[in-house]
Amino acid sequence: MEFTKLIEVRYSCKKYSDRQVEPEKIQEILEAGRLAPTAKNLQEHHIYVIQSPEVLAKIDEVTPCRYGAPTVLAVAFNKDNVFIYPGGKRDSGIEDATIVATHLTLAATNAGVDNCWLNFFDPDRVAEALGLPDNEEVLMLLDLGYAAEGAGPLPNHSSRKQLEETVTYL
Ligand SMILES: Cc1cc2nc3c(=O)[nH]c(=O)nc-3n(C[C@H](O)[C@H](O)[C@H](O)COP(=O)(O)O)c2cc1C
Repeated sequence: MEFTKLIEVRYSCKKYSDRQVEPEKIQEILEAGRLAPTAKNLQEHHIYVIQSPEVLAKIDEVTPCRYGAPTVLAVAFNKDNVFIYPGGKRDSGIEDATIVATHLTLAATNAGVDNCWLNFFDPDRVAEALGLPDNEEVLMLLDLGYAAEGAGPLPNHSSRKQLEETVTYL
């Protein structure tokens, strides 16, 4: 899909049908994450593909926001392998994982797969539910699937501030 069109049509899907996402589409989405840039090319992220009923049920215990999606990606990063920025106050973990997650999200839309970025959860509880090692922190969850009949963008999808409110030329 043409990029301008892609960012226009992406929306947060909040009701999914039972139809599972095809493996080749999952692969295409994961590949877009693989190609994401990271600080110092550390690639400290790890993506978990959650499709089994048992683990999806665990996701439902830690967030109300799966909305019936048959696949959920969990994007985590290795806290012990981040680039510490000058000043020592911040590091690359969250940024790198966020760039990966953005690639995944846009690639999903490009593949015709509906999706929703989730952060309404306690990351420690998600890490525990997924049995992640202590050095991994969950950045986000990404619902993937196909919109249920009648589902579509919420009204706030078309509500964005004007550029004058968020941009200053100096
Ligand atoms: C960082 C982030 C966290 C979000 N967390 C959730 C969430 O936990 N649950 C949810 O239903 N939507 C979540 N969303 C979706 C937003 O509510 C949605 O992107 C926003 O309202 C704009 O709508 P749109 O994506 O359809 O344009 C999140 C989006 C972002 C970018």
